[in-house]
Amino acid sequence: MTTVAPSAPADQALHTLEAVDVEVSFAGLRALRGVDLHVRTGEIVGLIGPNGSGKTTLLNVLSGVYRATSGTVRLDTTEMTKMATHRIAQLGIARTFQNIRLFSNMTVLQNVAVGAALSGGRPRGAALHDAAMATMTELDLTGIAYRRAVTLPYGVRRRIEIARALATEPRFLLLDEPAAGANEVESAELTELIGNIAQRHRLGILVIEHDLRLIMRVADRIVALNEGAIIAQGDAEAISANTAVREAYLGKRWAEKHSSATPPPTTDLDDRPTAPSDTDKETP
Ligand SMILES: Nc1ncnc2c1ncn2[C@@H]1O[C@H](COP(=O)(O)OP(=O)(O)O)[C@@H](O)[C@H]1O
Ligand SMILES: [Mg+2]
Repeated sequence: MTTVAPSAPADQALHTLEAVDVEVSFAGLRALRGVDLHVRTGEIVGLIGPNGSGKTTLLNVLSGVYRATSGTVRLDTTEMTKMATHRIAQLGIARTFQNIRLFSNMTVLQNVAVGAALSGGRPRGAALHDAAMATMTELDLTGIAYRRAVTLPYGVRRRIEIARALATEPRFLLLDEPAAGANEVESAELTELIGNIAQRHRLGILVIEHDLRLIMRVADRIVALNEGAIIAQGDAEAISANTAVREAYLGKRWAEKHSSATPPPTTDLDDRPTAPSDTDKETP
């Protein structure tokens, strides 16, 4: 991974984004139950789990898109459980969506400027342009600043969405399957990018990912969900050897058959039979 000189973050204090005993029910279906999760500034936490296990729902609860049926969401000591999304955004929590949401007919620069306009200093005019350009330089987007988002390939649009979120100068960045639809090269670039962003900005990053190889390389800590509950957490090694995780991804019979003394290599988990979902449930 390329090392980038750390830039001075505006806010050096340590912050914690936290979900405590969170439950979310949709008309009888419990999408999350008893979920405790925290992310601190400066760390990258990976969130994994099969399709429908509640990953996007958890990210929606942390960003105020969904309201927890019970439990608490907070940033440090500030309770956010019932806060509107824009207030949560103002507290420094930015996100991307499983299905990219960009202003398709606007240019890359305009999309990123929408984020930059919400950053701390509320820049306008030339200052806004410069702020957007600075983020675009970091994400290698300046060469296509004046292209309309809709004309660009999927992997690039994902990067624009990350740039827009980052331009708000968040304390926490929540990424919902940033590598979905990416090819292997794009996926590797993205891994490096996420690592660099965390380092330079000292953000807390929560990243949902189906690409387990990506998550294992980039995350300091991984949390595994299944059927709305946390079934395991730990580093890449612990997670890849965890029987409950293997069962959730590959089925009980597979896990039993392979439960020898030597755990298989971590990338084995990537042979999961499930394909990434592209259903978008962010808008109820
Ligand atoms: N707005 C909603 N209305 C009803 N059910 C939902 C809604 N959002 C999510 N769900 C359900 O909650 C469960 C978890 O979904 P989701 O969080 O999208 O899973 P994941 O992101 O892990 O694939 C699924 O059963 C899904 O159908
Ligand atoms: Mg999802």
